[in-house]
Parts: sequence; C-alpha cells; structure tokens
Amino acid sequence: MTEPELIVHFTAADAARDLRADVRAGLTGRPKWLTPKWLYDARGSELFERITGLPEYYQTRAEQRILRDRAIEIAELTGAGALVELGSGSSEKTRLLLDALRKTGTLREFVPLDVSESALRSAVAAIAADYPELRVRGVVGDFTAELAAVPAGRGRLVAFLGGTIGNFAPAERSRFLTAVRAALRPGEGLLLGTDLVKDPARLVRAYDDAAGVTAEFDRNVLRVLNRELGADFEPEAFEHVARWDQEQEWIEMRLRASRPMRVRVAGLDLIADFDAGEEIRTEISAKFRRSRVEAELAAAGFALTRWWLDDGEDFALSLATAV
Ligand code: AVJ
Repeated sequence: MTEPELIVHFTAADAARDLRADVRAGLTGRPKWLTPKWLYDARGSELFERITGLPEYYQTRAEQRILRDRAIEIAELTGAGALVELGSGSSEKTRLLLDALRKTGTLREFVPLDVSESALRSAVAAIAADYPELRVRGVVGDFTAELAAVPAGRGRLVAFLGGTIGNFAPAERSRFLTAVRAALRPGEGLLLGTDLVKDPARLVRAYDDAAGVTAEFDRNVLRVLNRELGADFEPEAFEHVARWDQEQEWIEMRLRASRPMRVRVAGLDLIADFDAGEEIRTEISAKFRRSRVEAELAAAGFALTRWWLDDGEDFALSLATAV
C-alpha cells in the first residue's frame, strides 16, 4: 500500500482566526447568528452521528439507499479516475462509491477534503488500509476555499453528499458551485446530495426530534464558544427551535434565550446582551426541488445528467457534468 498523504491548507490557527471573526460578527449582528461550521467539534460530530440514526432524520438512510442502488451506474457513467469527497466524514457512503469504482476498474485516487484534521487523519488511514491499490491524499481545508488544491487530470468526480449544500444561503451556493466548476475540466463530474421540499411538519420533526438529540447538537455550539473563546453561555438557558421558512424553503435552527441574559465572551472582549425570547440563528438547511437544482447547476456551468430519488422521494442524488 502507498502511504496516505495529508496536505494541510487550513491549520488550527486558521480555524481559530475564522471562529473569532465569525463569532464577533454573529453576536454583534441583528438578529444574532452563528455559522453551522462550529457545530462540529468532537462532541458535535458525535451528536450528528446520533442524529443520522434517529427515526425522524430520514435523509442519511435515504441517500445511502440511493447510493447502494446507483453506485455501479455512477461508476460506469463517470469512469472516474479520482474521487474527490468534500466534507467527507460519512465513510459508509464513501465506501459504497469506492467499491463500485473499484469494481469497474477506473479509480486510481481518492482525495477526501475536510476542515477537521483529526477526522481526516483517521479516515485517510482507514481507507488507505482497506483500499491498498488507491493513492489516498487527504486535504485539510475549508471546502469552499480549497478546491484549487484538488489535483487535476484522471477524470475527477467531486462528491458533495449528505445535503450539506443546504447549509449555504443561495448566494453562497452559487459561489460554491461556480468554484467547483472552475476546478474541473469539461466532462468531469459532480455528485450532489440534496434534501427535498416536503411536508413541513416532517421537516420540523427531523430538526427537532423527540429524544432531543438535535437540540443538544444545536446547544453544543455554545459549549464550543465557552471552551474556545472563554464565553460564559449557559447552554441550558437556551431553547432549541426549528422553523420552516416557506418562502425561502429552508429549515432554520435557532437558540432562544429563555430569559434576559448578559453573556461575556472573554476571548473577544465582547459582551452580548439577550432579551427574553431573543434568538440566535445557528443553521439553515435548504430543501430543494428538481427545477432549482437543475437551474443552479446550469448557472454554474453544469448539465444535470441523472436525478435519482429514494423510494419515498425524500432525497435526491444528482449527477452533473461540467460543460
Ligand atoms: C449535515 C448539514 C446535512 O442540514 O440536515 C442535522 C446538519 N443539522 N440536524 C442537515 C443537521 C441538524 C445536516 N447536514
């Protein structure tokens, strides 16, 4: 087996700088906001793993079923020589793709890209051990910024799964897709997972589960701020709220202050005052229709080649080709 490589484009110092800038902007904003990027420390990642197994959170299972049914077809259609996975983490889905591409015999290289160096290090080691014929090159980076690090040639397939594109607002989504397209050559592919618009009650339940795991996941961002920035948030004094925005067609997660509070963020020399009932927006998760996916891909220079749904038509996997 070839030793796996790890290229670090985004260091702990970069993360610390971004966190500080984000939190300062978000807590002085009106309304207050935080970005979902900071939800995923070790505990946050573990809580997210638990979310993926919740009865209300259908999307991980739905996407997995589509991949199980379509992986060979994806391998045959793309003939990919290199699989680039953005925000990897879900190794089970990755393996479905790697197995199929191994069967069809075209794959030479796997390039997972993630902001978390520790998560990537273990993922890279595990994949390298199980796929000894592959060159494995992990890139630690912010996937919206580091696409240029993706090595050229060999027919690349970029996978962005899990519906994570829904965390971007429309303008960010367009910048992101344009950046992916700019990193590719005509004929190369993008495999994109998107959750679909459906009954709002089901969507709200998926983001506010009965066991309270999502609420704990949401509040975990306050613990991250306490630890990393010396803030004194009382996470339990914030109520988790999931709301469907009909106009934007996205779910918003918010943390609502149960009473008036003054929070000190020592590391930023910042004071944030909360009124009773005041909310911090912590995440948006956009839901899609085929027309929107197709139009946004086209605007970025991709043609939609295949659109696959699970049996319940809850989730879509798109294969797009750079034109
Ligand atoms: C990992 C971004 C796809 O938006 O559904 C799950 C994150 N947030 N429950 C999503 C999440 C609350 C998830 N993504």
